[in-house]
Amino acid sequence: MTFAATVLTLYPEVFPGPLGFSLAGRALDAGTWSLETKNIRDFATDKHRSVDDTPAGGGAGMVLKPDVLAAALDHVADRDLQRRPMLAMTPRGAPLTQARVRELAAGPGAIILCGRFEGFDERIFEARPVEPVSIGDYVLSGGELGAMVLLDACVRLLPGVMGSASSGEEESFETGLLEYPHYTRPLIWEGRTIPEVLRSGDHAKIAAWRHEQAVNDTRLRRPDLIERHGGASQAPPSGAR
Ligand code: ADE
Repeated sequence: MTFAATVLTLYPEVFPGPLGFSLAGRALDAGTWSLETKNIRDFATDKHRSVDDTPAGGGAGMVLKPDVLAAALDHVADRDLQRRPMLAMTPRGAPLTQARVRELAAGPGAIILCGRFEGFDERIFEARPVEPVSIGDYVLSGGELGAMVLLDACVRLLPGVMGSASSGEEESFETGLLEYPHYTRPLIWEGRTIPEVLRSGDHAKIAAWRHEQAVNDTRLRRPDLIERHGGASQAPPSGAR
């Protein structure tokens, strides 16, 4: 089954952008996933093809009109035999997590609405089953980069995309911990040596060391993850002593 992405945007020409390269690009060429864009402006109804209007109650910026958004979403949803989830990229959304990415990647794909300006008329979230999603606590100038981030995170999990690389089970966030640090040749670089344990050949010792590093780095950099998952009390990977 192909993972099918449809992106509704005012800037369809920015896609596939970085998704056309590397893992995601090769998977796109191979037909592992598909990417379709729809220009939201094509669903405007007035002679100026307007998609936005001034905020009710005053304030800066412009707001995407609910009638135009609904027409765009309905156009895609009405033809969508697979009933893909509808997402809207907005800093007001629930933070995207690796768990949600896994769920999406296991499904038929996604219909993704990208905002510009101040955002969407809030009534779209009541009138249509659209899930607001944020990629982080900062404000982008539009949802397109967010949609690319979300799609990249999904696509790399599709069967065959990562090839012989790890299944991702030990990666950051899969275990509730940041991933352990990596090293490669040269053995000594600018006077710094690769940790001795990694050269020991003792796989149990290496696994235990990596787990300890992961716990320490998570405590330091992402104490919120420890809070959320009880990360420090997590079992080390099997094979570790
Ligand atoms: N659009 C603007 N900022 C965003 C964010 N942080 N996440 C998703 N979409 C956005």
